[in-house]
Amino acid sequence: MRLRKLLWTTRNSSQLLQRLSALILLAAVGAPAQTPKTATFPTQMPGHDAILLGTDWYPEQWPESRWEEDLRLMEAAHIKVVRIAEFAWSRMEPSEGHFDFDWLERAINLAAKHGIVSVLGTPTAAPPAWLTQKYPDTLRVEENGHRAVHGLRAHGSVSSPRYREFCRKIAEQMAIRFGHNPNVVGWQIDNEYGYANMSYDDHTRQLFQGWLKNRYKTLDSLNAHWTTTYWSQTYDNWDEIPIPIGEHNPGLLLEWKRFVTDTWNDYQKNQIEVIRQHAEARQFIIGNFMGFFDGFDHYVISQPLTFAAWDDYVGSGHVDPDYNGLAHDLTRGFKRQNFWVIETQPGAVNWADVNNFLNRGEVRAMAWQAIGHGADYIGYWQWRSALNGQEEYHGTLLGPDGTPVPLYDEVSQVGREFTKVQGYFRDTQPVSEVALLHSYDSRWAIDFQKHTNKYDQIALLKSYYHALRRLVPSLDVVSPDAPLERYRLVVAPDLNLIPEDLAHHLLDYVQSGGHLVLGPRSGMKDQFNALLPQRQPGYLVDPLGGRVEQYYALEKDFPVSGVWGNGEAKIWAEQLKARTPETQTLMSYGKSNGWLDDQAAVLTRSYGKGRITYIGAILDDQLMTAAARWMLQDSGVSPILSELPEGVEVSRRSGDGRDVLILINFAPEPRQIKLPRSMQFLLQDKQGTTLDLPPYGVEVVTASK
Ligand code: GAL
Repeated sequence: MRLRKLLWTTRNSSQLLQRLSALILLAAVGAPAQTPKTATFPTQMPGHDAILLGTDWYPEQWPESRWEEDLRLMEAAHIKVVRIAEFAWSRMEPSEGHFDFDWLERAINLAAKHGIVSVLGTPTAAPPAWLTQKYPDTLRVEENGHRAVHGLRAHGSVSSPRYREFCRKIAEQMAIRFGHNPNVVGWQIDNEYGYANMSYDDHTRQLFQGWLKNRYKTLDSLNAHWTTTYWSQTYDNWDEIPIPIGEHNPGLLLEWKRFVTDTWNDYQKNQIEVIRQHAEARQFIIGNFMGFFDGFDHYVISQPLTFAAWDDYVGSGHVDPDYNGLAHDLTRGFKRQNFWVIETQPGAVNWADVNNFLNRGEVRAMAWQAIGHGADYIGYWQWRSALNGQEEYHGTLLGPDGTPVPLYDEVSQVGREFTKVQGYFRDTQPVSEVALLHSYDSRWAIDFQKHTNKYDQIALLKSYYHALRRLVPSLDVVSPDAPLERYRLVVAPDLNLIPEDLAHHLLDYVQSGGHLVLGPRSGMKDQFNALLPQRQPGYLVDPLGGRVEQYYALEKDFPVSGVWGNGEAKIWAEQLKARTPETQTLMSYGKSNGWLDDQAAVLTRSYGKGRITYIGAILDDQLMTAAARWMLQDSGVSPILSELPEGVEVSRRSGDGRDVLILINFAPEPRQIKLPRSMQFLLQDKQGTTLDLPPYGVEVVTASK
């Protein structure tokens, strides 16, 4: 009771903040969080450290006489894994049907002598010249009708049957050769899924038409769901339907995205199946995703993979802990389990506007942040730059002379630390009571018709994340159709598509005691990207006991006030109306455009054993903070955490009866955190009640024995 009172009263003094930090930690390392029972973590391999450091190594670019020295330097940096071969097709199949894997086997064996295991990439993002020149239909056709040129990458056509055949063959030969190699621990399919590029050729168009036929069965159904009477789009034959280019019918646009997803999924399954036929089951199969990239639906593409992995690049500037943390949580949500950071940036990239170097300490802070959010592996792209090729300027761990660059020491420190504390992370994962819902269908639907170019869905997601994540030590980001029972609070910042079956799923959650919070633009459309013939939030109007009367894209901020205080509605505001006496208005607009004046901005209603809340506007940061407190308190989220010292992130991993906290100071000044009692600082190897973190400082804390 005292704890609650203290936490829910407004406070500012630094003394209070210090007490709060102590409370936060007390709560966070109290009784271990309820961990869902998982037999094993596929991200943690038996016989290997629970958290691992690695790099991307390209032995094919160097004389064999050099390999030993590379591997010696890797071993000295505590590197335990290399990802190899994902662009080495011309070395592995130098001419059609002639395979040469001897060199690769020697590289794998030599790495093993240095305690390093290998992840093999299938090289299908870089088909060799003999292939694309002899069989031009393996090259994709771009939107403008031109065939891709050889010499870049991702130039193969994902839908070309001939290209698929070549991909299957090389994957098969690799699996026959290495599927039982004890030093090969897993596989990566392709590289970054060709950025979801499609081939705009007749064959692909026919595939799309067949795919639509299979889905809609009749043209009457398709015409009805897409309202093709509009602008005379009515289709009388399946072969009249185009591949959408530019602004098109929203129904067609959404189905194209789903077709792209299914096409890339089939493309990877073609390789996964053949690898599975020849490889031992212990070898995992992954792909490398790209954070918020939305070229396809990652929940679908993740399904056939053993676990999710992603490439974490900052590009210009410096790490934004919220954005990066959210991207980790998004990736963890693809399979709802721990993941790998298969690539990350060793200092700088070569493709951003300004390829500045990360500050000293920032690379290490990022590595630990990933671990805190559920990563069990961090791999640096790349070990050493090829002496020629498009990425000569990219960050590396060795210079062109083959000796370490300054960052090598920082990465070695990460490796040393991982090795030292890895045992504490065995069988642990972030366990959350709060989930954010994220849906590709809804993201695409809004982006096709933004209505205001200021509407940035990732920024909105991040604003909810920022406010909530400061109060809880972990937060899940999951697909709306994920099981929700384990969450006390589920927040959908802008779930545009809520077809009837999804509405039932969400209502089941509310009825059995959950708190569902919907943000603006929610419940507007069905699965065909058509407007629902109800007002928002569609099938949830009755449970909410209220609805959206009208939405407004804002030219400027409008005042809004109520139980969360006074502030501004930004970018988007919806005029809400309660329709039952039990529906409460939590916030209302002030004087604005006349239409919104004194109208409801936030409604809430108890429903079943739970609650449903609708927030009709994008709120400023201060209101979001108050809203987050209210949501957590109302949902009974425990432990209830309060503000951390600005810039400090706390993450918690739980499992096996143990909680491990990762504390990172992303602020430019030192921060001090008072602990509720003496605790163990695993990195510094000491115990203490006060933790001092310099800028980019990291500590791994656990309760003292
Ligand atoms: C990744 C890609 C790597 C490398 C890296 C450079 O997107 O998978 O192969 O190009 O970018 O930052």
